[in-house]
Amino acid sequence: MIQSMKLALVVAGLAGGILMIAKGPSTSAASVGPAENAASRTLYRTHCAECHGNDGRSNTKRGRETEANDLTDPGVKANAHDKNVRIITNGKGEMPSFKRKLSAAQIASIARYIKNL
Ligand code: HEC
Repeated sequence: MIQSMKLALVVAGLAGGILMIAKGPSTSAASVGPAENAASRTLYRTHCAECHGNDGRSNTKRGRETEANDLTDPGVKANAHDKNVRIITNGKGEMPSFKRKLSAAQIASIARYIKNL
């Protein structure tokens, strides 16, 4: 009995490890490590802060002009990772598309970053 429980734990652990490898770090919604956080902060500040502000509250000239969403708003925070990836990739209303400026991995990284604003 104890043996088979141990076996089950080992199998579950292995399966978890394989799942993590299969998912890969670049496009998943997994949490952000410090190195990625610094890189994604730079990306965010370069491409998004003009409208959304460094703090995400969109209290900038361009943010007010375009009526950009407050990214710290609970409604926006509740957006699924994939939804934000789509919006950043394709744009929405007055928000431009970033598919020619940023790679899929960079977009996924920014989508994770804005969850923590
Ligand atoms: C030119 C200004 C501008 C820039 C630059 C910009 N946005 Fe936006 N963003 C907007 C506007 C305007 C909206 C509202 C769109 C709408 O609903 O019509 C918006 C909406 C959003 C939303 C919320 C959409 C929703 O409906 O929940 C997210 C998330 C977002 N932007 C993220 C980003 C990120 C990340 C970047 C940088 C890669 C970025 N934006 C760059 C103007 C901008």
